[in-house]
Amino acid sequence: MEFPAASSRRGLVPWMGLLLAVFLLTLWIPPTTVRFAIVSINAAEGQDVILRTRNRPPNCAGFIWYRGEKKDYYHFIASVAWHVRRYKTGPEYSGSLIIRKVTLKDTGTYTVIAVLQNSLREIGFGLLNVYQRVSMPTLLASNTIVTENEDAVDMTCYTDESSTNWLFNATSLQLRERMKLSQDHRTLTIDPVRREDAGNYQCKVSNPISSTESAPVELDVKTPEAQPSGRVSNTTVTENEDAVVMTCYTDESSKNWLFNAMSLRLKERMKLSEDHRTLTIDPVRREDAGNYQCKVSNPVSSTESVPVEIDVKY
Ligand SMILES: *[C@@H]1O[C@H](CO)[C@@H](O)[C@H](O)[C@H]1NC(C)=O
Ligand SMILES: *[C@@H]1O[C@H](CO)[C@@H](O)[C@H](O)[C@H]1NC(C)=O
Repeated sequence: MEFPAASSRRGLVPWMGLLLAVFLLTLWIPPTTVRFAIVSINAAEGQDVILRTRNRPPNCAGFIWYRGEKKDYYHFIASVAWHVRRYKTGPEYSGSLIIRKVTLKDTGTYTVIAVLQNSLREIGFGLLNVYQRVSMPTLLASNTIVTENEDAVDMTCYTDESSTNWLFNATSLQLRERMKLSQDHRTLTIDPVRREDAGNYQCKVSNPISSTESAPVELDVKTPEAQPSGRVSNTTVTENEDAVVMTCYTDESSKNWLFNAMSLRLKERMKLSEDHRTLTIDPVRREDAGNYQCKVSNPVSSTESVPVEIDVKY
């Protein structure tokens, strides 16, 4: 600590001694509803801090500052006295103490004594809390590419701070019933993951003077269904002359064919390839005109292709 705004300790001790000797003979002013006090503050380590007083009694002739609650030589920080008839400005005259480059050790109670003209004095206390700026937490996920409804994911926030919050797509995460936070809020479990969980996750730590977020972890949720796309040789065909070949493009193994939104009944002119991917109608008849779709499914979901309309000329 340095105290450039107030006089140095060594220089003022004799004056202090005299003042204390006087004080010992005087009375304490009884506490009032608006107490003289130091404004308690939170500060970041390394910052310059101004401890201010509030409800200063009128006719102050000086201030004496102490670290802690003991008012003795060992806890003395600084003092300032002035002749009240002269107009003076600056932190020392308004009852403030500047502490340059605070450290964690400066955390604690401070005491100030206002010396009044009539040799009375008033005492005030306040708290200074010095914090380190929080350092950036690290967020790690058990896996980042997961399958909807099948997989679970654990995300863990590595930090020394006690206050951990979670962000999803840069806004506060709304916990769903599939999500669970560990008791210390450092681990988030999503079980099972759903499509709507896909996005960017961050953990955010904070203390009274600062907050910081982890780098985002992107969760990619794969949906097991693959959108099929149908392909057809020619959608305008001539009855009894042309053939129609439709192919369903998908990665899924289970494929069904729909005709006018209903399960297709295979006729003798129709043939499915062994993997059910290709439907051939040969020759085509006028009753085959309509909408064809392929539908793929797995145990958790199913989806259909965009319909293909077959127009039969006759
Ligand atoms: C979250 O962000 C991802 C990636 O930017 C986006 O695909 C997803 O739709 C977003 N989710 C919500 C619920 O905003
Ligand atoms: C599709 O079939 C119609 C009728 O058979 C024919 O007129 C047309 O040229 C065919 N189009 C293509 C692209 O093969």
